[in-house]
Amino acid sequence: MTGNTFGKLFKVTSCGESYGKALLTIVDGVPPGLELTNEMIQTELDKRKPGQSALDSPRKETDIVDIVSGMRDGFTTGAPVGMTVYNVDRQDIHVKQYRDVKEQIRPGHAEYTFFVKYGKYADWCGAGRASGRESLGRVAGGAVAKQILLKEGIEVLGYVSESHGIKMKPMTFEDIKKNYRKNHLNCPDLETAEKMIEDIIKVKKTGDTAGGIVEVIARGVPAGLGEPVFDKLRATIAHGIMSIGAITGVEFGAGFKAANVTGYEWNDEPYLENGKVRFRTNRSGGFLGGITNGENLIIRCAVKPTPTLSIQQKSIDMEKMEEKDLEAITRRDATLCPRMYPVCEAMVRMCIVDALMIARGYDNVNRIENPWRQI
Ligand SMILES: Cc1cc2nc3c(=O)[nH]c(=O)nc-3n(C[C@H](O)[C@H](O)[C@H](O)COP(=O)(O)O)c2cc1C
Repeated sequence: MTGNTFGKLFKVTSCGESYGKALLTIVDGVPPGLELTNEMIQTELDKRKPGQSALDSPRKETDIVDIVSGMRDGFTTGAPVGMTVYNVDRQDIHVKQYRDVKEQIRPGHAEYTFFVKYGKYADWCGAGRASGRESLGRVAGGAVAKQILLKEGIEVLGYVSESHGIKMKPMTFEDIKKNYRKNHLNCPDLETAEKMIEDIIKVKKTGDTAGGIVEVIARGVPAGLGEPVFDKLRATIAHGIMSIGAITGVEFGAGFKAANVTGYEWNDEPYLENGKVRFRTNRSGGFLGGITNGENLIIRCAVKPTPTLSIQQKSIDMEKMEEKDLEAITRRDATLCPRMYPVCEAMVRMCIVDALMIARGYDNVNRIENPWRQI
């Protein structure tokens, strides 16, 4: 397996499976002198943890993190920061349930493609590396990035904006920030959130699951981040978000609405505010040429309904190569949305820190007079 590291200068490597002993995260490129504690990482991991409400999986993982390297006296040394989290809820009954269906292709899961690539060696237990537990490493890496971004005055906020067709009302950043963690769904429109939750519970009772949208806003990002061609920041964020399990689409600003409007209706017009370039609207989601323009980054992430259902589904037994129904299986999330927002936040944070390091590194080598540069 390749591709377990993300980033160019700020690099996060994750390893570990759903029912393996532990999940490990290594963050390379952390600057020295950054204050970092287990609690800082834990706060972020706790947002993603399963079993927090009737909406998500009853799997009881404590997700207790331990920073094991790259630190001295509470500050980073500049060496790679290593973090471990042990999987504690690995009961025999659940392992047996997975063993019983290990030859079967579970609809919406990654078994078939893993089987094509890894054959009989693919880890069949709890989806192995394709499990949502993999996203824990992203959140741990993103928590380190968060400490760097806080020093830069950059805030990244993720929340659920839509669930199973029910949409939240438009809200300001301040109101979103005030309310986004006040319910189990992490939707800041508290009234609509109740309707969403009621609907998800109704769907859950039928054995089915619901999808939705997680929106991420990044505020305080300076203009000029991202490289102009293959490494546009818009492109690396899309890469990061699309690499999360169960994400089916990503949209920046008004995104797909571009198909329905004219250029005059789409363009964000610039104006001067205290001698600084600003834009009157933000349909582009904070980018021009894939490079940040100083406005908020607005990223919408489509989350598919949880693949594990308590409904019998058509399937194939891969060993016998015959069609065989798949019975309803074990523990599941009625919706992945409330656990997805910290994962999306983490990926966006990692991308911004990486882009900051690349931009400042490039400027430092260049050292030309460039008074227009604000990064
Ligand atoms: C945080 C998180 C939690 C997840 N939890 C579950 C789960 O409990 N049950 C499930 O069927 N899929 C869950 N998934 C989704 C699967 O990992 C994913 O849908 C599957 O690997 C197939 O990949 P794809 O949807 O990207 O094609 C979760 C994903 C994430 C990011």
